[in-house]
Amino acid sequence: PTTRYYEFELKVKKLSPDGFERPVWSVNGQYPGPLIQANKGDRLVIKVINRLGDPATIHWHGIFQRGTNWYDGVPGQTQCPIPNRVSFTYNYTLEQSGTYWYHSHFLAQYVDGLLGPLIIQDPDDPYKNSYQEDYVVTISDWYHSPSAPLLVQRTAPHYTGFNPYPDAALISGRGQYNCSSPAAGKHCNPNVKPATYNVQKGKKYRFRIINTSAYTYFTFSIDNHPLQVIEVEGTPVKQANTSTVTVLPLHTAQRYSVILHANQPIGNYYIRANIIESCLAPRTNNTINYNSSINPNATGILHYIGADSYSKPTSTEYPVTFTLCRGIDSSAIRPYKPDPAPANITNSFVLNVTFAPNDDDVGLFKINNSTFEPIFNNPTNERIMLKEDYTGFEKTQNAYGYDVPYGGVEIILLNGGLANHPFHLHGHAFHLCGVGQGIDINNLTTRNLIDPVVRDTVIVPPQSHIIIRYVADNPGVWAFHCHIEWHVELGMVAQLIERPTEFSNRTLPDDVRALCMQYDSYYKKQK
Ligand code: C2O
Ligand code: CU
Repeated sequence: PTTRYYEFELKVKKLSPDGFERPVWSVNGQYPGPLIQANKGDRLVIKVINRLGDPATIHWHGIFQRGTNWYDGVPGQTQCPIPNRVSFTYNYTLEQSGTYWYHSHFLAQYVDGLLGPLIIQDPDDPYKNSYQEDYVVTISDWYHSPSAPLLVQRTAPHYTGFNPYPDAALISGRGQYNCSSPAAGKHCNPNVKPATYNVQKGKKYRFRIINTSAYTYFTFSIDNHPLQVIEVEGTPVKQANTSTVTVLPLHTAQRYSVILHANQPIGNYYIRANIIESCLAPRTNNTINYNSSINPNATGILHYIGADSYSKPTSTEYPVTFTLCRGIDSSAIRPYKPDPAPANITNSFVLNVTFAPNDDDVGLFKINNSTFEPIFNNPTNERIMLKEDYTGFEKTQNAYGYDVPYGGVEIILLNGGLANHPFHLHGHAFHLCGVGQGIDINNLTTRNLIDPVVRDTVIVPPQSHIIIRYVADNPGVWAFHCHIEWHVELGMVAQLIERPTEFSNRTLPDDVRALCMQYDSYYKKQK
């Protein structure tokens, strides 16, 4: 194993991912941020230098952070925010392999661009010899307005009840906005090249697809090329013999690896990432940015070496054969090695997600009747889980925190509402034992405990429930939340306080404590 060093300078830079120019919260001036590549077992040392003008943190989505909970990047829960003009170094080892990503966990900064892919190779990957090249594709919704004014509209007295609507779809940070539309402004660049991936006829390619959206459910496909699914969020999978995947559904924060066989006639083929608008809450004249025109479909190019680079693809799109707004058909993929869910459950939680306006008539999400308060809505929240003197964590009695003692854990999440929620668990991958209709606790779907798919982000369909299991083998404070950023900001977050007696004995490393001191003085100056 080696130690890999990265330096991330966070700064706001004007970029035009889809042609439309806007300030982008960038890493080293790039959107998406630089690719982190490592091998299983390596250590990552990432120095983050914050020049955004605002505090920030970085979360490493899907990474277990075993023994390093304080580098999980959740402000207030596991670390203090990194103030402007301060640097902080994340330092952790990688026990996993597969397709991950990193993003700011501070307010909605990741919606403004602060994100990038994180790929971990495994020398023992069962598919290592099944492909010749490894490509990363991010797909994302994109907003022409910075998130701050959008968030303001989600607080009283401006609240209209509806999520900001994306303006565009991007493939690997590139989209096609119509620069002649009146909203385009005078800096629109009509010549953004579509994301292009070169292949050689006869070869096989691994594509790692990451949905980095704030809000959006996507379908992903490559014309004329079926996709063999081999990885789900770090877990190798195999496709059921009879299944062919041509169109892949991904909700916010979900990832897949697929193998593509370049066995078609030499030419150019469209890569497609489509925002499925019917899976979003309907756009009404209450919707923030109701009037903006949207191009929900992004295209990229699969280019066979030898084909004319200037001729546009004439390929046609695969039809969708599954239920839109839902996850990949659970009968289509199986774990590569059966990995049974923990059979003995010592901690069982029922979490009920609801939506209700509060006294100010601001809509809020509740999990078991309590709403997580994002940072800054309440000054004491900057240190939700950090002791006053920052020597360690402490268990605070907030309603959105749940004690998770040692043993097997089962979470039953009930979603009685009309929206889809892609739920993500920090610090673990979980066995997805079931997704079922209805929210009647006496009428749950049958659990697959034998060979469920293991992942870290799952779609919870409307008026449905999911059942997940995992082993509490990673003491720490782990967030469990919907990954739709607009829902996070309305409080759809629970905190799982895993093995509280063990982690409250932990002393925070000096650098984490020093950061809190710096944040304290920064915060006082702001006031
Ligand atoms: Cu990728 Cu807490 O999230
Ligand atoms: Cu949600």
